[in-house]
Amino acid sequence: MNPGPWVKHSMNVGIAARNIAEKIPGMDPEKAYIVGLLHDIGRRVGIVDIPKHVYEGYKYCMEKSWDEAARICMTHSYLLMQEEFGYEPVREDEKAIKAYIMECVTDDYDRLIQLCDSLAVDYGFVILEKRFVDVTRRYGIMEG
Ligand SMILES: [Fe+2]
Repeated sequence: MNPGPWVKHSMNVGIAARNIAEKIPGMDPEKAYIVGLLHDIGRRVGIVDIPKHVYEGYKYCMEKSWDEAARICMTHSYLLMQEEFGYEPVREDEKAIKAYIMECVTDDYDRLIQLCDSLAVDYGFVILEKRFVDVTRRYGIMEG
């Protein structure tokens, strides 16, 4: 629906997540791969900002009853979780995200995909610092 570098990025997040999960006792590499693949699926709807792609992905996965993937769509963009929501959102999608995150306790899959999202680009894997520069170039620096 919306071709772009996010598709290859998503595949690489899945691969990184699977490779790391294979080394961690108790983690399921297949689950890690699938939730990694789907974390940005909200981008299917077109050009989106952070809250919109997060919430579109959540809704899409919930419609399919993929609740574990839906959860990762929500958590992957909010590394500090509750601490990121010290304000009252105005937009409906952000309100829904805040309500969800405030009730959410992170697990190893949330943290794994947050990490892999920062390691994987469309053309492969980079150090975290390089990825942060890449994201900042696209979205700018947030205040606060
Ligand atoms: Fe994302």
